[in-house]
Amino acid sequence: MLEKVPRAKYGPQRMMEGKEEKPVDIPMQYPRTMGPNCMNYLQEVVDSGLTVDMVGRFEKAFAKELGVKHCIATPGCTPALATLAAAFDFEPGDEIINSPIADYGTLQGLVTENYIPVFADAAPGTVNLSAETIAPCITDRTRAILVVHMTGIICDMDPINELAEKHGLIVYEDACQAIFSQYKGRLAGTLGTAAGFSFDSEKTMGSDIGGCVVTDDDDLAERVRFYGQSRGAQQEPHFGRRHVALGYAYRMTQCTAAICLAQLEIVREQVVHRDKMVRLLTDLIAEIPGITPIPIPDYLDVYSCWMFGFTINPDQFTCDAEGFAKQVQDAGVPMADIGKMYLMPAACTFLEDMTRSKTYPFSMPPASHEYSFSEDNCPNARDYLENFVYWPTFCEKYTEEICEQVAGVVRAVADRYRR
Ligand SMILES: Cc1ncc(COP(=O)(O)O)c(C=O)c1O
Repeated sequence: MLEKVPRAKYGPQRMMEGKEEKPVDIPMQYPRTMGPNCMNYLQEVVDSGLTVDMVGRFEKAFAKELGVKHCIATPGCTPALATLAAAFDFEPGDEIINSPIADYGTLQGLVTENYIPVFADAAPGTVNLSAETIAPCITDRTRAILVVHMTGIICDMDPINELAEKHGLIVYEDACQAIFSQYKGRLAGTLGTAAGFSFDSEKTMGSDIGGCVVTDDDDLAERVRFYGQSRGAQQEPHFGRRHVALGYAYRMTQCTAAICLAQLEIVREQVVHRDKMVRLLTDLIAEIPGITPIPIPDYLDVYSCWMFGFTINPDQFTCDAEGFAKQVQDAGVPMADIGKMYLMPAACTFLEDMTRSKTYPFSMPPASHEYSFSEDNCPNARDYLENFVYWPTFCEKYTEEICEQVAGVVRAVADRYRR
């Protein structure tokens, strides 16, 4: 049993010794700041008797803010990426290279479309894949690379795009955790052929639920609407709606769009603040012996951080990451936890079941060879997550004082369990 770091010192807290005592809770995103116009937009939806096109308004506003031609609103990122997978129209058994540290929603759609996910490893000591880890995964069946900008850190996209171009591959982004992060002057979601975003209530720009696809490609945008929203239907003279493809009805609701629109008006300012706070917290955490915060690459101009995390050096502590995370949570950091569940080849056990039982598309053909899925696919990602502690409640409510408090909690846990 681990000894507890007493909460009294860190919950509603006494600040550092010698300073005035102030009760300060470590905040989380809830209750969310909804934006000054949120109620007006919701009221418009109701007052119009559902005739106002709030979804269209949000799509235009988001596309403009991002500087892209098309935004297609969806009920989440899982459906956004599923729609993209359908719209790409690859062959069953084709391979899509994926980030190893991701979410189920990253890959659900491409498995549904009978593509095969191939997990490239993370670059050592980081949460993201890189051109170097992608290169050995490319085969003659590879069609696309789906990158995830984990925690809000954009993958090093220039070398990835260069590699993809050399092999004729599409690159697209899961930008759920990185809204308005900026890579060498360019925004997450504008660094490939298309991207998916999430506006679920936990996210940096959060509604009750929601997401979207963005792209500059007119033809792809049309296919996304056709597969994702029109349910694969075409209007035929003298007949009506003819379903010529197996499509979805993944549409955002008008009320969700009203909340998204209100959130969009406040999120850029919040992201600037998150960037400042995450850099401060990273510096403070980096000073604690045995603790290494997620490294922030130099190329990242703006870090729209959704989750904060660090690794512990297991040689230096008498507890493991799980024990450490529990102590951090008990001492007042909401939802501090371990991050192993983000290791997709280990978390998605249905993939190994499918490949073992040669379930379509793992039967040969359409698959060209046998696959296997386990944490050993990606040893860098596995080893990184083994010692990883994070919380998905980092948010724009952090202040310098709160960053110091949080670092104080982590330091106290580290000191208590140091060998
Ligand atoms: C990286 C990533 N991809 C996809 C998703 C799925 O998004 P949604 O819940 O909007 O479907 C999430 C949600 O947590 C995520 O973090």
